[in-house]
Amino acid sequence: MKVLGIESSCDETGVAVYDSDSGQIWQRLYSQVEKHREYGGVVPELASRDHVVKAAPLMGEILDEIGGIDAVDAIAYTRGPGLIGALMVGANLARGLAWALDKPVLGVHHMEGHLLAPMLSAEQPELPFVALLVSGGHTLLVDVRALGDYRILGESLDDAVGEAFDKTAKLMGLPYPGGPQLAALADSVAQSRFEFPRPMTNRPGLDFSFSGLKTAALNIVRQHEPLDDKLRAEIAFAFQQAVVDTLRIKCKRALDETGYQSLVIAGGVGANRRLREVLEKLGKAQNTRIYFPALEYCTDNGAMIAYAGALRLLRGQTDDLAGDVLARWSLESLIPI
Ligand code: KG4
Ligand code: ZN
Repeated sequence: MKVLGIESSCDETGVAVYDSDSGQIWQRLYSQVEKHREYGGVVPELASRDHVVKAAPLMGEILDEIGGIDAVDAIAYTRGPGLIGALMVGANLARGLAWALDKPVLGVHHMEGHLLAPMLSAEQPELPFVALLVSGGHTLLVDVRALGDYRILGESLDDAVGEAFDKTAKLMGLPYPGGPQLAALADSVAQSRFEFPRPMTNRPGLDFSFSGLKTAALNIVRQHEPLDDKLRAEIAFAFQQAVVDTLRIKCKRALDETGYQSLVIAGGVGANRRLREVLEKLGKAQNTRIYFPALEYCTDNGAMIAYAGALRLLRGQTDDLAGDVLARWSLESLIPI
């Protein structure tokens, strides 16, 4: 089955076709980063408008490659969670096509897309597994008992990890989007004179809190302004170390509590080099298999939506044309695949 997937939940327009028979993927990705840079963050209205401009032409390019729209058997799109106006662009394109062509259509949960993304490239993780989902909007530890059967073990009570990276980068004067830049700066030094707290690790439970790290960074910045390059790198190092260490501690706790021996990491922050290193090491120490998506499938993309959609569409799951898009949507409310 060839499934067309459309991702438009935030500031990336992703379009892809996934062929469930051959595993082949065709994809296009357009990032709106330049559009939002001067505002220092994503402006929802601008994001929606840019999806309108980019989604159909990107889809046209892919359809040319695969031999036209008739080669597509079904259509998947991101139904939520995300920015409502941005989601509506992909949803309308997908449903309009499905209606015109009389093909099945399905709205996909964005975080399920992330969660299943490692399966696009790595070997299939053994079920059950713990998933660490770390993106700009979410920080979740999930008990994945079966595909589509999710129980939230822990989540951030305030900022998501990616958000904390981006906000800290901003207050250090790094250009938007700051997360990857902050990470690169942190990786440019081997140590730091600063030590940040590991929030919520000294009490039981699997929830997170990252907003305090941003405040800790702000206090250091204020004390040391104007910042030179070395100081900036050392703050970045201490911040990244604290985030990664906190995630490691909670992943270990989740593995110990569930007794599972597979850990899947997904979402934009899954591209973080230090996080990948530290969790690989945890895997060795715990006798646990660690699965990361390929770097290109860590951040938002259409392939993960086409893939998650394909798994469900193959089981006969479809939406009717009157569905809505969802700014918030719990993973726990999904039906098993
Ligand atoms: O999954 P994603 O593309 O979009 C959301 O669904 O939110 O994640 C984007 C987030 C941003 O906050 C970005 O700063 C962060 O992932 N990110 C990183 C890295 N690459 C992307 N954070 C830390 N280190 C990285 N290498
Ligand atoms: Zn995402």
